[in-house]
Formats: sequence, structure tokens, C-alpha cells
Amino acid sequence: MNRTSVSSPANIALIKYWGMRDAQNTLPNNASLSMTLSRCVSICTLAPLPGGSADEFLWKNRHGELVPADPTLRAGIEHHLPALREHFDYWQPLRIATTNTFPTGAGIASSAAGFSALAAAFVVHCGQSLSYPALSDLARLSGSGSAARSVSGGFVQWPGNAQQLSGPALQIAPAQHWPLHDLIAVVDARHKTVSSRQGHLLANSSEFYPTRLKLLPERLEQARRAILERDFTRLADAVEREAIELHLIAMTSQPPIFYWKPATLAILERVRQLRSEGMDVCATIDAGPNVHVLCTAQHGPKVFSALRKLPDIQHWIFDQIGDGPKRLEQHLF
Ligand code: DP6
Repeated sequence: MNRTSVSSPANIALIKYWGMRDAQNTLPNNASLSMTLSRCVSICTLAPLPGGSADEFLWKNRHGELVPADPTLRAGIEHHLPALREHFDYWQPLRIATTNTFPTGAGIASSAAGFSALAAAFVVHCGQSLSYPALSDLARLSGSGSAARSVSGGFVQWPGNAQQLSGPALQIAPAQHWPLHDLIAVVDARHKTVSSRQGHLLANSSEFYPTRLKLLPERLEQARRAILERDFTRLADAVEREAIELHLIAMTSQPPIFYWKPATLAILERVRQLRSEGMDVCATIDAGPNVHVLCTAQHGPKVFSALRKLPDIQHWIFDQIGDGPKRLEQHLF
């Protein structure tokens, strides 16, 4: 069997993508900026089914069993696949298996990792290299804009052209430039009840959204320069204002969306306190209750020993900045 396997990372948005100017083509209202992760990855294996008449979709669960993909995952792949097929003029039925090394649908960018892995596996299967320039656009065609950023390692901006808000993602700096850590506090590992897509579509209904769009270019520039200059204080300021504002927009949308749990706020407050005591630490939260605590490698152990005492954290994932998709020699089937 001619199998192709790829792993592709999740990413954490420092400047968030929230709201679309073109829902059909997943084009954003603002440029976003993320840090690619290293341990939170999706793995995708695909192989042609020579005698098959239809695609097969599988999920490797945490017991290592290959089971039929659940309806949400299946629908996501079925949405993405036609665009990939059309791009490469590839029509043979496929067996596609995926798995994640982290909780799915809980605000840890599982769709970014999953769809960038699918796009990357398809690209490799069709004989292209992983640095194929259009990989970011192919990942975006899944409908998950954040997937467009997961095709590259380090710090990544999407769209690369922030003025015209178009085109693929662009790497701002590689992972080695600033090896930041991401301690992810899993407050609730369940699938979120309001998808990011619903959130994007509701963003305009918040009366604060036009103000957000006005403030963003300067904040993006602040974050970008802070990264290039490895200035943690300036980065922390942009990242936390941004995290709070995303949820302000969500909470003031009509109807409102509440992603936070009490523990989310408790972690955020403690992180701010630790920073005021001199630690290089800040927090951000995507569309879910879980908190990404970003810190320098040097301050990681002290930060964790202070935060681990907080109640209502189910578990921690210790991640850090990483590289983009990789081809694998081991396969899921
Ligand atoms: C809050 O539409 O890319 O994470 O499909 O759920 O991955 P998923 O979401 P997507 O929106 C991402 C929203 C966000 C911010 C961000 O990652 O930029």
C-alpha cells in the first residue's frame, strides 16, 4: 500500500483571527500572528484505495484503535478534500486516518493541526515538497483559517500581506530565534459548544468590533517587533490585551459566547501577578476555556510551580515553539 504520513503542529494565536470578510473562501478581516507548537500535533496517513469506490475516514483513538471518524471530523475532511483533489486533479478514492496528541476541539487549534496535516499529506502524496508555496492556501481551503499558519514553524503571520489581507502565511522568525515555552492549562478538555466558525460569523454583531479592527494594525506591529527584538514585556502587553479583547468581542456578540470558566480567569490573574513580580510570563486563550501560559525557558519551572497550586486545572500540556509539518516514516495503518 502506497501510504503517506505527515505530522503537522497546532499553533497558538498571539494576535487572533476573529471575523471573516469572505466566509466562503475563509478570508479574514484582520491579519493574525501565531507561534507554532511542537508537541501538540495532528498526524495524518493517507493511501489510495485501488478497488474502492468511496473514501474511508478513520480516527486513531487514545487506545490506539482505528475507528470510523466521528461525523464532525468526517464532515470537515469531506469539506476540505474536493479543493485538494481539484488542485492536484487527483480523483482516486483514499483511506484517510488521523489522530491528535492533544484534546480535540477545546481551543488548542485541533483543526489548524488537523487540516494542515491533511493538506500536507496530500501535497506529499502528489509528489510535491512540504515547502510547496501554496500549502498555506491549501490548508485554508479547509475553512479553518488558523490552519493556514500551521504550515510553517516559529512565528507566523497570516495573511503575509497585512495591508491587502491576502495571500498565504509568512514566517516572521524561525523557532530557534526565540524558544518560548507554552504551558497549556487544560481547564476543560471537552469539545467546545460554539465553534470558532460561529464566532467569526457573530463577530460583527458586537458593537466593539469596529474599534477592535481599528486597534489591531498597531498591536500586530507591536507583537511583530517584540518578537524580532525578543522583548518579552512588549510581547506580553500585546498578547494579553489581545486575549482579553477576543473574549470581549465574543461575550458582547449577539447572542453572547462565553468560552471562559472560573479557572480561566484565576489563571490569567495569577499570571499577571507573576509578571508584576518580574517573571517573563503572559497568558492567552483561544476559542475555549484553556489557557496558554507563555514564558521564557528560563522562567518556566518557577512559573509552573506557582500555577500548579491553582484549583480546577484538569491537566497540563508542556509545549514549546516548534517547526512546521514533517513527513513521517511510521503510519497510522
Ligand atoms: C480564536 O476558524 O481557524 O483560535 O477552525 O476552530 O481552528 P478552528 O478555528 P479558525 O479560527 C481560529 C480562532 C482562534 C484565533 C486564531 O487562531 O487566530
